[in-house]
Amino acid sequence: MIAKILVTGGSGRLGGYTTPRLLEEGHEVTDFDVVDHPPVTGTRAAFIKGDLTSLEDCLRALTYSEADTIVHLGALPGPREMIKGRARWRTVQVAPEDETMRVNTMGTYYLLDAARRLGSVKKVVFASSFYTLGLGNRIGDDPFVVEYLPIDEEHPLRPEDSYGLSKVFGEELLRAYGRAYGITAVAFRLMGVHYPDNPNSLHKFGVTPDSDPGHVGGPVVTTYQYVDARDVANAIVLAINANGLDPFEAFYLSTDTVYTEPTRSLVARVWPDLDEMAAGIPGTEGIITDAKARKKLGYEPKYSWREGG
Ligand SMILES: NC(=O)c1ccc[n+]([C@@H]2O[C@H](COP(=O)([O-])OP(=O)(O)OC[C@H]3O[C@@H](n4cnc5c(N)ncnc54)[C@H](O)[C@@H]3O)[C@@H](O)[C@H]2O)c1
Repeated sequence: MIAKILVTGGSGRLGGYTTPRLLEEGHEVTDFDVVDHPPVTGTRAAFIKGDLTSLEDCLRALTYSEADTIVHLGALPGPREMIKGRARWRTVQVAPEDETMRVNTMGTYYLLDAARRLGSVKKVVFASSFYTLGLGNRIGDDPFVVEYLPIDEEHPLRPEDSYGLSKVFGEELLRAYGRAYGITAVAFRLMGVHYPDNPNSLHKFGVTPDSDPGHVGGPVVTTYQYVDARDVANAIVLAINANGLDPFEAFYLSTDTVYTEPTRSLVARVWPDLDEMAAGIPGTEGIITDAKARKKLGYEPKYSWREGG
């Protein structure tokens, strides 16, 4: 079925892969972004400039796009708070410290509340993150605790930074609006996204993780997994087409791990405490599993670096 889709944050990196893919499926797409330009020139996507943190802008975007579906990518994709002793965060400080929480949480709230008021949106697909787990940016002294492996959607979420927290709050907002107003929502907890057109991609493939001595025998700070933006765009299409989902569903989404050896031998060396827990992980599959997305949505990642990405 052809949907009328509002893509928030459509001018960003993921939007640049998502909008063309949705157009390819024959959907009508409107990009809603705070910047001045649509993501990809020459597409048939409409563009509405606006701010997610303005209820008025969200109402305007939903009204003029006549959207029945929202793909919610708009966000600040990282924390902004200053942490003592974290030079990296200090040097990249470019926005007020409360900006991530304000944009991501209030932006999601206003967007959903505009949808509720208009009553026309039936489904929302949300770009959440594996940072909801509490991996990535830990602030306190306690390490991330792995309760079991592989980590799935039932694993406890213990975020500490404003970014991970804002994604958990976004998911809770979606859960509540599903209960209250019947808006179905899918939250994709994305691994770090690989953008194949970006020469400065953070992801290095074919690595040997214990070449970083800080990681050997230490707590889990990364899972060495990634998701290719093209696989995310395909998963978004699957979520839009899916029927019979619960009102709110979260799914981890991964393309592959970045290392060459079997996960079991890697875990035994890098995180020896987790050795027994990893017994059931086959081959090079990640310690976070996307089995639920494969089973319920038919997700099948296609762009692994192993096959030439
Ligand atoms: N990049 C990753 O590795 C990664 C991992 C997990 C989840 N995600 C999530 O995926 C989504 C897309 O990420 P991305 O990598 O494309 O980031 P991006 O920064 O390239 O794109 C985000 C877009 O949101 C827009 N935006 C920001 N504030 C806005 C506001 N107030 N109103 C309207 N638009 C606003 C920006 O202008 C930008 O175009 C984000 O929600 C991010 O949190 C990204």
